[in-house]
Amino acid sequence: MSTMQDIEEIEKKLLSRVSTTNTPRDVLRSPDLKQLYGAIKSIPNEQRSAYGKRINDLKLSLESSISKREADLDNAAVESIDVTAPWDINSVQVNLLPTNLGSQHPLTVEIENVADIFTRMGFEAIESRQIDDDYHMFGSLNFPENHPARDGYDTFRTEEGFIAPAHTSTMQNRILKAGKAKLESGGQIGVVALGRCFRNEDLDATHEHTFYQFEGVFVSKDANLGQMLGTLRSFFECYYGQRLKIKTQPAYFPFVEPGLEFAIEKPTTLGGKPGEWLEMLGCGMIHPNVLLAAGIDPKKYRGFAWGGGIERLVMLKYGIEDIRYFESGKLQFLRKFA
Ligand code: DAH
Repeated sequence: MSTMQDIEEIEKKLLSRVSTTNTPRDVLRSPDLKQLYGAIKSIPNEQRSAYGKRINDLKLSLESSISKREADLDNAAVESIDVTAPWDINSVQVNLLPTNLGSQHPLTVEIENVADIFTRMGFEAIESRQIDDDYHMFGSLNFPENHPARDGYDTFRTEEGFIAPAHTSTMQNRILKAGKAKLESGGQIGVVALGRCFRNEDLDATHEHTFYQFEGVFVSKDANLGQMLGTLRSFFECYYGQRLKIKTQPAYFPFVEPGLEFAIEKPTTLGGKPGEWLEMLGCGMIHPNVLLAAGIDPKKYRGFAWGGGIERLVMLKYGIEDIRYFESGKLQFLRKFA
């Protein structure tokens, strides 16, 4: 017959096994545990409920240390991959995260959030391309050949001359061409393109070689800067869920005239001080040459455009200090958003 003391000893033994094994959940199938359950029927009536409760407590404490051990193993596995080892060795060693513990990447969630806000404002949301060419990266955007402004967009090229886009503005010419017929039949073009960009950067807390942007393009007969500022203000106030102060200052981008940088005052609820401005994106009235490159008559139509980084939006929203977390795949970071 099992006694309370037996339970105590078995508990110690099983807990210690949980803390050392790589398959802690197997401990729940241990014969010791079965034996304790089996003994219930031979316990005298008046002691049975206390005994049952004790076994239940044991089960609960096992469950909780098993979950903790599993989490530790996942984290350890992430830290300890030998990247030089062949895949099959790593895939044996690594404790792959069970799907029920997985979650969406915070950027995925926020990209959908940004797309949602603009969709509700009447924009169409599309995904930007991840491989492109010189014409879409520069030529169609009014960058003259050999112009020094090209140097600000140092990215990766294949030997065949394809380009990993350094901004989502590569989508402008396509958006304009696709919307031309709609425009000419009395409608407007309103599209936001979201997607991955690449730059040949020296990495630090605010620079990453791979990042995301959202690009807006709006064209109509009489689009103007006031509409653009209203659109951007609405977006940012919706995204951060509060009234915001905004300001702009002149900036140079070959594809807009005038070109502006758009800043918001860092909200005090997000750790900002009054007078602390954060530049969020570049924007302006679409340059006539960009409209012409898509076959749109700049005498009849006007447009505005903007492009900004999504990581910056998200870092401010959650107080994330280092942009490199996003591409790191670190579970300790990802779990904060699960
Ligand atoms: N493409 C620019 C960049 O990544 C940002 C930008 C500026 C986009 C002005 C625009 C714009 O559409 O009008 O640096």
